[in-house]
Amino acid sequence: MLDYLGTTKRTHSCGELRREDEGKRVTLMGWVNSYRDHGSVLFVHLRDRDGITQVVFNEERDAELLARAKTARTEYVIAVEGRCILRDERNFNPNMATGEIEVFAEELKILNDAQTPPFEIDNCRASEDLRLKYRYLDLRRTEMQANLRLRHKLSLATREYLDTRGFYEIETPILTKSTPEGARDYLVPSRTFPGRFFALPQSPQLFKQLLMIGGYDRYFQIARCFRDEDLRADRQPEFTQIDLEMSFVEPSDVFDVIEPLVCKHFEVAGIEPPARPFRRMPYSEAIGRYGSDKPDLRFGLEFVDLTQQFAGSAFSVFADAAAKGGAVKAIVVPGAAAWSRKQFDDIIEHAKRFGAGGLAYIQVLESEAKSALSKFLGPDGIKTIIDAAGAKAGDAVLMIGGDFDAVCTSLGAVRLEVGRRERLINENAWCALWVVDFPMFEFHADDRRWYALHHPFTSPADEDMDKLESDPGAVRAKAYDLVLNGSELGGGSIRIHRTDVQARVFRALGLSEAEAREKFGFFLDALGYGTPPHGGIALGLDRIVMLLAGGGSIRDVIAFPKVSSASDLMTDSPSAVAPEQLAELKIKTLA
Ligand code: AMO
Repeated sequence: MLDYLGTTKRTHSCGELRREDEGKRVTLMGWVNSYRDHGSVLFVHLRDRDGITQVVFNEERDAELLARAKTARTEYVIAVEGRCILRDERNFNPNMATGEIEVFAEELKILNDAQTPPFEIDNCRASEDLRLKYRYLDLRRTEMQANLRLRHKLSLATREYLDTRGFYEIETPILTKSTPEGARDYLVPSRTFPGRFFALPQSPQLFKQLLMIGGYDRYFQIARCFRDEDLRADRQPEFTQIDLEMSFVEPSDVFDVIEPLVCKHFEVAGIEPPARPFRRMPYSEAIGRYGSDKPDLRFGLEFVDLTQQFAGSAFSVFADAAAKGGAVKAIVVPGAAAWSRKQFDDIIEHAKRFGAGGLAYIQVLESEAKSALSKFLGPDGIKTIIDAAGAKAGDAVLMIGGDFDAVCTSLGAVRLEVGRRERLINENAWCALWVVDFPMFEFHADDRRWYALHHPFTSPADEDMDKLESDPGAVRAKAYDLVLNGSELGGGSIRIHRTDVQARVFRALGLSEAEAREKFGFFLDALGYGTPPHGGIALGLDRIVMLLAGGGSIRDVIAFPKVSSASDLMTDSPSAVAPEQLAELKIKTLA
């Protein structure tokens, strides 16, 4: 008799048995995924993380065993001993890896019962909230198990690869000092220093630079990062980076390490990797042609610039834009001449949501062109625009004019939306590119000051160094982003390694010497002790796994994610704490 706690051991996983195993005596353990009761025969689908095996209990072979098996319900945990039998060919199940065999049960032990789950595990139609509340059940789903297996394999491949390239894996603190990277910090109160706080790291940025100063040459870490920011499908408050830093490098050295790593990830996922070297595109081109610093190159709809054509024209909105140094840009959408009024209205609304004042269009029909602009430009004027845009019969020209940034951003959003709606995106393509030559700073009109576009430790381009004080907006940075299919996979830069340059950048950011010292004194000190030129990058591991797993949300590749309100539905956190805990920390809450 099978004795779970005794000598009998599991011999195979539930995804393992094949026709070659015919006749073997096997012991399987797992969860009852489903069962079909045919009276004298009971079929149980037994599941573990490897797959599902059909187990057959038969009255003729053992009536008592069948009766006991019938007491098992879905999600019961059972151990079955039996014989692996080749199925009759008619009964092969091509949808199961184990579909050519089944196990004729000879022994059964019910290891644990289970309450009726709140949703069916496979074939699950439950809301995501319900799935996250019972995440441990959700994790039993085949898709989740495949995603987490892929995540494991990618982490492992990353470690192996970076080891061969001379990187050391070094851990950096989780309880640390707040260093600004654009998002809000998660703070941790100190008991020993009441009123003072640690911050959870938004990234290991300064520590990895300190490791270069410490002489470690090549560092990496699969690092957990924490950012209190608005969440989206590709953002979590805690997420994981493949973070690395290298000494004595230029951007191309970083690319030479990262491209094979990303290709390796593709191979591990069983997908043909993109061709190398990855394309490189200056930021100004990405914005000017696609309206995005993470352009999705799986489809066309590139911008056409019509500023010149509208300068001095009778359509005053666009003529004004041109006169004020703004832009008029267009995309040409094949087949859209036949769109309904509603389709155009929807796109106009979309453009407005992303900051456009409006959107004008021309429907290029076989014999005529229809456009609200006709009354301003006349047929010849319209023809000039159509020709300049390169549109042909059947196309529609969608145009936005105004401030350069607003035009690019809103037309970029329109491009993506039209690409999706018109199914222009090749879902089987993988387009990887480096966006390079980012601006060093961006101006925020609300508080009228410059912010670092990447982070304040990024080096300005050598040739722009003399504009740091005189024209900060024109300074480019030695920064780069890796973009895959319109998603930002990673970002990095060559860093400032000289104290004087760092001081000039802080000044450009409006940070006084005293403020800089208070925030980064330890780091500024370190810079003065022989800092090697260095640079690095961080890739979003969750995003890579999400894309390679074909999912639409990073929550599907994180075992225990948070929902968009940054709470955890399973543990019901954040939660209140005992008054004594707060007293110990000398904290009083206002809420
Ligand atoms: P950055 O802030 O660009 O750079 O982050 C690098 C990559 O991390 C991923 N990422 C996120 N993933 C999920 N949820 C989030 N909230 C989230 N935020 C960022 C993205 C992004 O490209 N220290 C620098 C790197 C460097 O300069 O070396 C940094 O953190 O994929």
